[in-house]
Amino acid sequence: MLKKSIISASFIFASTIIASPAFSADVNNGRALHKAKCYQCHAEKSGLGNGDIIYTRADRKVQDPARLKFMVGMCNTHLRLDLFPEDEADLVAYLNQKFYKFQ
Ligand code: HEC
Repeated sequence: MLKKSIISASFIFASTIIASPAFSADVNNGRALHKAKCYQCHAEKSGLGNGDIIYTRADRKVQDPARLKFMVGMCNTHLRLDLFPEDEADLVAYLNQKFYKFQ
């Protein structure tokens, strides 16, 4: 009986984490990391001198939360920015809150 409720409690806990990517993410850390590691290159690559426009341009790559996670991982891995998974989660939370606004 007790064991069963522990199992269902942990199931609910686990599904809460999966359902909300922003769970326990630190948006302020994401903002700081973005400024330090991401903004400059996006500003230069877009040719617009503004590193935020890449997320709001009409033909942006990211159209759903999974893709957002994927692209943050891509830029981190391919460019060897050496971010921890927690930092990636914070960046995803920040970018989603500020630009993409996925539910
Ligand atoms: C050295 C350059 C560079 C750095 C540094 C960089 N990026 Fe990028 N990023 C790019 C380029 C170039 C693209 C556009 C790729 C495309 O359009 O195919 C991009 C695209 C993206 C996109 C998708 C935007 C869209 O179209 O919706 C996300 C999200 C992203 N980067 C996140 C990050 C994050 C987070 C960081 C910092 C941890 C970061 N990037 C650092 C070069 C960089």
